[in-house]
Amino acid sequence: MKPLVVVTGKNGQLGWELEQIHADHSSEFDFLFIGRQEMDLSNSVSVEAFFTKYQPQYFINCAAYTAVDKAEADKETAFYVNAVNVGLLASLCLVHQCRFISFSTDYVFDGNTQTPYLPDDATNPLNQYGLSKREGEKLALQNNPLSVIIRTSWVYSSHGNNFVKTMLRLMNERPEIKVVADQIGGPTYARDLAVAVIKIIAEMHSGNPHAGIYHYCNSGIISWHQFAVAIQQLSGLNCKVLPITTNEYPTPAKRSHYSGLDTSKIVADFNVIIKPWQESLQECLKLLL
Ligand SMILES: NC(=O)c1ccc[n+]([C@@H]2O[C@H](COP(=O)([O-])OP(=O)(O)OC[C@H]3O[C@@H](n4cnc5c(N)ncnc54)[C@H](OP(=O)(O)O)[C@@H]3O)[C@@H](O)[C@H]2O)c1
Repeated sequence: MKPLVVVTGKNGQLGWELEQIHADHSSEFDFLFIGRQEMDLSNSVSVEAFFTKYQPQYFINCAAYTAVDKAEADKETAFYVNAVNVGLLASLCLVHQCRFISFSTDYVFDGNTQTPYLPDDATNPLNQYGLSKREGEKLALQNNPLSVIIRTSWVYSSHGNNFVKTMLRLMNERPEIKVVADQIGGPTYARDLAVAVIKIIAEMHSGNPHAGIYHYCNSGIISWHQFAVAIQQLSGLNCKVLPITTNEYPTPAKRSHYSGLDTSKIVADFNVIIKPWQESLQECLKLLL
């Protein structure tokens, strides 16, 4: 029998991308994709029953409370889904001898630096979403030291809600748009991250014992404004993209000015490939235009 890989959050960006590529790996693994309808992660009874019934060998938790601004007013739900639930899943994986992979965010950092963050650098989240994700990292590793936590940033895909799709919509509707130029970070094409996750599972299955916190994003660190300019140029849309400051675009959740992630540890430990952000953006735009 092939090992079973369970993926939560099948309707989100990353879960959906994993479902798109899973057929390429169906000779090595069986896959089960689940959404909120199949398993509500805020209900611990259904989660426990699920493990007993399916006995997965790999559990990839792509489900999360990802509404960064909404989390400021709804922190209880954000903490339940991103912290309590992640800790519970990690414990159940330990009990059922299942490797656990979950995802975190660049928002665990405060941005008071100018060089890419390493996984062991001190954290200091500036908003409730970042706090909930940081708590989830801690609980997962406390409850199950074999957990792999992948911090990622600025995730986009041809599916779901994200910056790339919002920019294309606005650029189609308006002659000019204003985009924040003083927040710097690394875009991540969810398809690339999905490929990296499958590689990590394959490595684990061949006995790779590495665990802990990792960083994954495409290579190259840019501002949201630079990202928007690239989207405009590659899509050929007739729209001016003007730079503004964070102060000119206030949001309920505070964002850091710098959130570059150093990805060298994930490359060294799991042999994953990191593509340049421009190449990945072009690939995604081919599906959207
Ligand atoms: N998006 C980003 O820019 C970004 C940046 C840094 C880190 N990350 C992290 O990367 C991971 C993947 O993100 P993503 O962009 O793929 O997220 P996403 O598109 O927002 O998808 C999240 C999924 O989680 C599901 N979910 C939420 N609460 C649930 C619950 N109580 N029970 C079951 N399912 C629930 C949602 O279901 P519904 O569809 O039913 O709502 C949704 O399908 C997450 O851990 C996220 O925190 C994302």
